[in-house]
Amino acid sequence: MNHLKISTLAACLTAAFATGAGAATLTATIDAARPGPVISKYVYGQFAEHLGTGIYGGLWVGPDSKIPNTRGWRRDVVGALKDLHVPLVRWPGGCFADQYHWRDGIGPRAQRPVRINTNWGGADETNAVGTDEFFDLVGQLGAEAYINGNVGTGSVQEMSEWMDYMTASGTTSLAQLRARNGHPKPYKVAFFGIGNEAWGCGGNMRPEQYADLYRHWSTFIHPGAGNDTKFIASGGHDEDTTWTDKLGANIYGVRFDGVSFHYYTSPGPDANNHYGAIGFDEGRWIWTLKQTLRMDGFIAANVAKLDQHDKDKRLTFAVDEWGTWYEAEEGSKPGFLVQQNSLRDAVVAALNFNIFHAHADRVRMTSIAQMVNVLQAMIRTDGAKMVLTPTYHAFKMYVPFQDATSVPVSLGNNPEYRLGDVAIPAVSASAARAKDGKLYLALVNTNPRETADVDVNVAGAGAKGATGSVLTAPAMDAHNTYAAPDAVKPAPFTAQAAGGKLTLHLPAKSVVVVALQE
Ligand code: AHR
Repeated sequence: MNHLKISTLAACLTAAFATGAGAATLTATIDAARPGPVISKYVYGQFAEHLGTGIYGGLWVGPDSKIPNTRGWRRDVVGALKDLHVPLVRWPGGCFADQYHWRDGIGPRAQRPVRINTNWGGADETNAVGTDEFFDLVGQLGAEAYINGNVGTGSVQEMSEWMDYMTASGTTSLAQLRARNGHPKPYKVAFFGIGNEAWGCGGNMRPEQYADLYRHWSTFIHPGAGNDTKFIASGGHDEDTTWTDKLGANIYGVRFDGVSFHYYTSPGPDANNHYGAIGFDEGRWIWTLKQTLRMDGFIAANVAKLDQHDKDKRLTFAVDEWGTWYEAEEGSKPGFLVQQNSLRDAVVAALNFNIFHAHADRVRMTSIAQMVNVLQAMIRTDGAKMVLTPTYHAFKMYVPFQDATSVPVSLGNNPEYRLGDVAIPAVSASAARAKDGKLYLALVNTNPRETADVDVNVAGAGAKGATGSVLTAPAMDAHNTYAAPDAVKPAPFTAQAAGGKLTLHLPAKSVVVVALQE
């Protein structure tokens, strides 16, 4: 064989492997006997900011609205979110947090001041939703609260008093003020963030400067008795590990439970937000997925920094803003960050879940940006109308992973999904033993053109069958609209072992979550 022939054969083999034709069998081997860390339910947290219609209109309509509501919160939206078992809601921002003054949002609503939301479209902020309304929302959802404090324009005194208002019991003046506002019982603050994006909208600080501020502020913020609030420092973003490193090194001697991290998925390295949420080609599909998979390396690099300072792995690495960020929907209000949500977003969500599970020992909390109507939302609303997005369905399919015990799963012969010179692994997997005792397997087929057959082996046991659901659709940008709300929704998925072998047939561009019969 001459060189030309050898290289031609190699090219054919590469092409065959990349498309799956004649490729070795793809296997998922689950080592159920070697349980890993618990996947905290807080990994499935969500973010609701005072931004656009994320709260006003999307969640809150006020008690006098014709839209059915419970004390102002939309019944349709809250009802749908309850099915996601939302464990945690981060509020009131984001960038908004650093301009939010909690006293504006308590007491009779008619007397609350109106401010301008300078971060987000210059909209009027009526303060109709304040602390007591927010805790009513989390109560209705059965969730817990992640309160983000205001370092940018607030004061230590103000934050210390906010914590008292929320969590003090007994006879303190602020506990009594809360009681007069209808809530004698202290609230539970599961997480408290000291500022947000201190490197940017939170004050354009240096990490050393912020670390000093953090030590100062956290000294004076005291959760009430019985409140085991976790304090989160505002950390870095994207490939920058400096913040994690400097905060790990410079915050000591005070309450400090985790470092936050933000990474938004853009549809390409050069693209920033200049491509839309729908109407994209396969180039944008693969680039979006490639971009989102960078999360894995970002977490690993930051965790390596944390490990240098926190050998006992006490600190949480909190990815408290993540998700897709595209060009805003045509005709939407500037600064409202409105975007459609397609099958691609569901695949992005599932890939990130699998990454978070793989880092469950450190990533013990995240919140997707955002819950309703903003960026990669679960739900979209327009007046009284509501529609569930493909991302909503991905969250619902992964509910069994909340507080499940991760188990190692390794993929053998996982082919590339390639388009031109861009390539990513075709399949992503995660497995866990859930609280119901069952072994769950989640698989994502990133290839929008090729199916993938996965032989499942449960080491030392074997799997007799699988039952669950699959999310896919004919088009990469398939999405739900008010007119066609079920264009993308999960369908039942079952498989039975034959001849001692369990093979799962993953459709192209799909997310599959199954419980295995062992
Ligand atoms: O989620 C939208 C914004 O993105 C948040 O307010 C901010 O923290 C981030 O830059």
